[in-house]
Amino acid sequence: MSPAAGHMPQPELTRAPLDAARCGLLPEGMSAAAIILAAGLGTRMRSARPKVLHPLGGRPMIRHLLAACEARFARIVVVVGPDMAELEAAVAPHEVAVQRERLGTAHAALQAMPLLGGHAGDVAVLYGDNPLIGEETLGRLLAARAEADLVLLAMRPADPGRYGRVLLGPDGGVERIVEWADATEAERAIGLCNAGVVCARGPDLARWLAAVGNANAKGEYYLTDVVALARAEGRRVRAVEAPEAELRGINSRAELAAAEAALQARLREAAMRAGVTMLAPETVHLSYDTRLGPDVVVEPHVVFAPGVTVEEGAIIRAFSHLEGCLVKREAVIGPYARLRPGTVVEPRAHVGNFVELKATTLGAGAKANHLAYLGDATIGAGANIGAGTITCNYDGVAKHRTEIGEGAFIGSDTALVAPVKVGARALIGAGSVITANVPEDALAIARGRQTVYEGRGFKGKGR
Ligand code: UD1
Ligand code: CA
Repeated sequence: MSPAAGHMPQPELTRAPLDAARCGLLPEGMSAAAIILAAGLGTRMRSARPKVLHPLGGRPMIRHLLAACEARFARIVVVVGPDMAELEAAVAPHEVAVQRERLGTAHAALQAMPLLGGHAGDVAVLYGDNPLIGEETLGRLLAARAEADLVLLAMRPADPGRYGRVLLGPDGGVERIVEWADATEAERAIGLCNAGVVCARGPDLARWLAAVGNANAKGEYYLTDVVALARAEGRRVRAVEAPEAELRGINSRAELAAAEAALQARLREAAMRAGVTMLAPETVHLSYDTRLGPDVVVEPHVVFAPGVTVEEGAIIRAFSHLEGCLVKREAVIGPYARLRPGTVVEPRAHVGNFVELKATTLGAGAKANHLAYLGDATIGAGANIGAGTITCNYDGVAKHRTEIGEGAFIGSDTALVAPVKVGARALIGAGSVITANVPEDALAIARGRQTVYEGRGFKGKGR
């Protein structure tokens, strides 16, 4: 194979190189740089949005990869396509290099080199669509660089599918990578697959990237060809293996779902290791930032959207949906509860079935057990919110607040027309429409009186 066939167009410097002084602010020992490739169109996703912005565990997949890279690399440059403003914003504050024509992964990586300003330390190239790589694996990649001139990450997937295959020499070193489209039957039978991460010294990588040609089945400049170029110089190339759950790539919606499943399994295992009981873990959906304290119990079919913290000993009953909220110690949520952003449930409070809370604080030991909507409200400790209570917080233009004092008792089917305040220990008769403030310790009833007409009952057929 001859990687040097066509000559690759060389990049121009589109933005100023990174300020070297910035490196002084980074943790000691972190001198490596990372290039993340994300300029591809993600055609196989059949989506209007760039592939790497599709979420996994509640955040764009590229932010997972960035989080791992931030722990190991002093500099990160993301290669994006033209007109990808949304992606540029999602990777901020990291810098971007624009790949104007999509000529392949080596060409994409080369676009970032001018920004790195001849970085003499190690440079790794990663793919934005391989987002589940852990910090520890990146650490092993960088450590292995001390023993070889070029290091790559490899895996042995259950189904090797269309991944590039890694060809080893007799000494266990890597000889070359062959892309699936270019591979022979015998090569496709190889189980060791390229995960799409390489690492070498900056000047070596720059030289190899510039020498990659495009004489292959797709007519693209393959990053994977740097292996054969390094070998042609007699350099050592090593593969570091890691589990498929970390290294799997995402090219299609089915692979996105498989990656989500792998991430969910990882998040659930971490939660259970930290002392959370899950009655049916495979039915619980977590986000990357879900925080569950020890002795929290999670019943089946619960969704934790981003931004949820649940403190020690709280119980989240079946079929509840939580997002952007704080549930404090020993509170009980659900079954069938919905906690929306800005909600705080204080210790030992109860939120029952078909109750929705939004931007509301439910005081310690307070109860809202059935069929209620509580939005933009502050509810005091020990208050009891009857079934069917609604805070009418929106007048069609603005949102208004409802305040309910400690120990108040709100009768069933009460409408609280905000802005309105109900004092501590006040009692509201069932079916009331409360439009004016109710003082402490008062009883308020606001409904039509019942009228009874003797003898005028139903006189239908057969009576
Ligand atoms: C690539 C590897 C393959 C490996 C697999 C692992 C190559 C040639 N092949 O194949 O060996 O097994 O990943 O998942 O590298 N990109 C650009 N600009 C381009 C082309 C691609 O930025 O011109 C970006 C894409 O956005 C993507 C990444 O590079 O994030 C990888 O490209 P993709 O087309 O998905 O490569 P694979 O076919 O998956
Ligand atoms: Ca891919």
